[in-house]
Amino acid sequence: MTGLVEWVDFPPLGDERGSLVALEGQKTVPFAIRRVYYLFGTKEGVSRGFHAHRNLLQVAVCVTGSCRIVLDDGRSREEAVLDSPTRGLFIRNMVWREMHDFTPDCVLLVLASEHYDEADYIRDYGQFRSELGGDAYAQARR
Ligand code: TYD
Repeated sequence: MTGLVEWVDFPPLGDERGSLVALEGQKTVPFAIRRVYYLFGTKEGVSRGFHAHRNLLQVAVCVTGSCRIVLDDGRSREEAVLDSPTRGLFIRNMVWREMHDFTPDCVLLVLASEHYDEADYIRDYGQFRSELGGDAYAQARR
């Protein structure tokens, strides 16, 4: 069983001049990339996310600064600190995510498997738990 926190290490391509990371769909990143977005200038004390996606796969990487991401699959809740431009966090579908503790310089780059689709979002935690169905509750009881 895979843990909720799945890191993707990016091969370092830097040399004596400095660092370089290349992200390629279906190679470095475990899906074809249809969308890229980034969060920056997040105000102090602001938390974001608080949703899950029905189908979307994502890899998030802090290219500058750091933040903390909480993942919840209805059975367990785990957290990860993103503070490296050479390591991304793979976030699967049907995983509730919350993002906290953005440093003022944080640039959180997100690679996504699908175009933006509001219908893919589950923004209510109770709805998320109910869409997971009895399976999640059954496994939680083990
Ligand atoms: P949202 O995903 O709700 O932000 P958070 O990171 O806090 O979960 O997105 C904020 C707004 O931006 C929302 O109105 C939807 C819009 N948006 C797009 O139009 N395209 C995108 O690719 C993303 C990620 C968001």
